[in-house]
Amino acid sequence: MNKILKAVLPIAGLGTRMLPATKNLPKELLPVFDKPMIEYAIKEASEAGIEDFVFITGKDKEVLQDYLNKKYLSDYTFGLENRPTKTKILKKNDLKPYNITFVRQEEPLGLGHALLCAKNIIGSEPFCLILPDMLPKGDPGCLSQMLEAYNTNKGNVIGLEKIPMEDTYKYGIVKISNKKNNVCKIDNMIEKPRPENAPSDLMIMGRYILQPEIFDILEHQNPGHNNEIQLTDALITLTKTQKFTGMIFDGKTYDCGDKLGYLIANIKYSLDGETNNPDIRNTLLNLMQTLEG
Ligand code: UTP
Repeated sequence: MNKILKAVLPIAGLGTRMLPATKNLPKELLPVFDKPMIEYAIKEASEAGIEDFVFITGKDKEVLQDYLNKKYLSDYTFGLENRPTKTKILKKNDLKPYNITFVRQEEPLGLGHALLCAKNIIGSEPFCLILPDMLPKGDPGCLSQMLEAYNTNKGNVIGLEKIPMEDTYKYGIVKISNKKNNVCKIDNMIEKPRPENAPSDLMIMGRYILQPEIFDILEHQNPGHNNEIQLTDALITLTKTQKFTGMIFDGKTYDCGDKLGYLIANIKYSLDGETNNPDIRNTLLNLMQTLEG
């Protein structure tokens, strides 16, 4: 079985929906409850067996590059040393070897263009693509669930999630067939359709397992929506020649690139005992009751 060991994490976007918080600070460093957003993505990938992390960085992201240094990740994110809190830690034996590479996207020309910047590093292997501002909360993690679907179906796998129909204009939406349990065939995709034009209520929730042929398509991709090189447009071309499987994520994704999604994620992660701190949970629940009353 071909294992997937590499993940691309594009973080070169401007984060305009989160201004002014993101004026000088990368949104991936904004905390969700007690740790920066980026840590959830790294941990999810590491638990799925990813060993090579390729970050696509841009302007004003140096602070993130400093943050993601190897010593810190070993000591804190992966929990090799004693941690200052009592949160669940990975045991030393659970830790996989890992490498971190940074590639600069000189201009934010779109997600498709950001992914293309990883072409030479990924080479000819299938890989994961992770959008760290989309935060999927589930156990096992979203990428672990997707890799199970990949091992059976091969080809390309895209994480999907049901959303209210009125929100389709915010996300990539898929047209599907042959749904069996949580797995289906993806026939087509459309970027940010108005509800009346959406082929379903299933959004692309920021996790992909892709074949390397996507790079050849991206190299010739014209700008699309918003005058950006859109990943979805390149994926649509790839559906003509390759298999695309949709995996409906068993969990809930929070769009932390959006103020409301970010706020809800903070509340959920605080309530769900991530810190084993009942004081925080009880205080928050009491506060919410007081506000409702
Ligand atoms: P978004 O659509 O969330 O865009 O990008 P954004 O620029 O980060 O945020 P807004 O819309 O201005 O608020 C989805 C992912 O693609 C990356 C982002 O960093 C995010 O992880 N991206 C986007 C790039 O790396 N480069 C780009 O040119 C565009």
